[in-house]
Amino acid sequence: MARLKLGVLVSGRGSNLQALIDACRDPAFPAEVALVVSNVAGAPALERARAAGVPSETIPHRGFPSRAAFDAAVDGRLRTAGVGLVCLAGFMRLFTPEFVAGWRDRMLNIHPSLLPAFPGLDPHGQAIAAGVRISGCTVHLVRAAMDCGPIVVQAAVPVLPADTPESLGARVLAAEHRAYPLAVRLFAEGRVRVAGESVTIDGADWDAAPTLLCPAGP
Ligand code: GAR
Repeated sequence: MARLKLGVLVSGRGSNLQALIDACRDPAFPAEVALVVSNVAGAPALERARAAGVPSETIPHRGFPSRAAFDAAVDGRLRTAGVGLVCLAGFMRLFTPEFVAGWRDRMLNIHPSLLPAFPGLDPHGQAIAAGVRISGCTVHLVRAAMDCGPIVVQAAVPVLPADTPESLGARVLAAEHRAYPLAVRLFAEGRVRVAGESVTIDGADWDAAPTLLCPAGP
């Protein structure tokens, strides 16, 4: 079985990168991390890649004269590495519409809210301020606007009365670590069908549902 090559783009801690690396350790998982790119030198995510023996490099955005030049450099590295699916995993930088178009329906992002609610910064603070009872995370195909695009997988967690952004964030993060590998697996199995601005999953049943209820559920 040829495994789908992932290019994982990171800026920081890299816990979602770690979840993908761990999932790929299973020989039955249909994808492998081919390349990790960070725009931030010294990001802890790079150490995770090194520890796992995954090729990684830093492409500091400050070294480029324009956003387009930075994006072209990243694009070149991904294509040289034979990447078939780009995974944004805490990559805190917007791409140009040209870059996004070049990876249309082949680039995923994870965001720690149930989109379209609470995009952007401080989603957990936004969720608590809005008084929602349920929050979670979303893995979606990337479109030009921030934190938007066809939804592949969502995972839901309760918001508890005593929650702070930190405690809610920790609960959501645990859900992220299940949702991202699931979305990548569904994509790599060729089961993600994009119709307009929404996604259907071929052969979805409750055992492989694009909805996780955490901490319960499959
Ligand atoms: C994750 O919570 C991810 O959902 C979020 O950044 C964090 C990165 O953590 N992404 C966004 O907010 C995108 N808008 P990690 O580096 O430990 O994976």
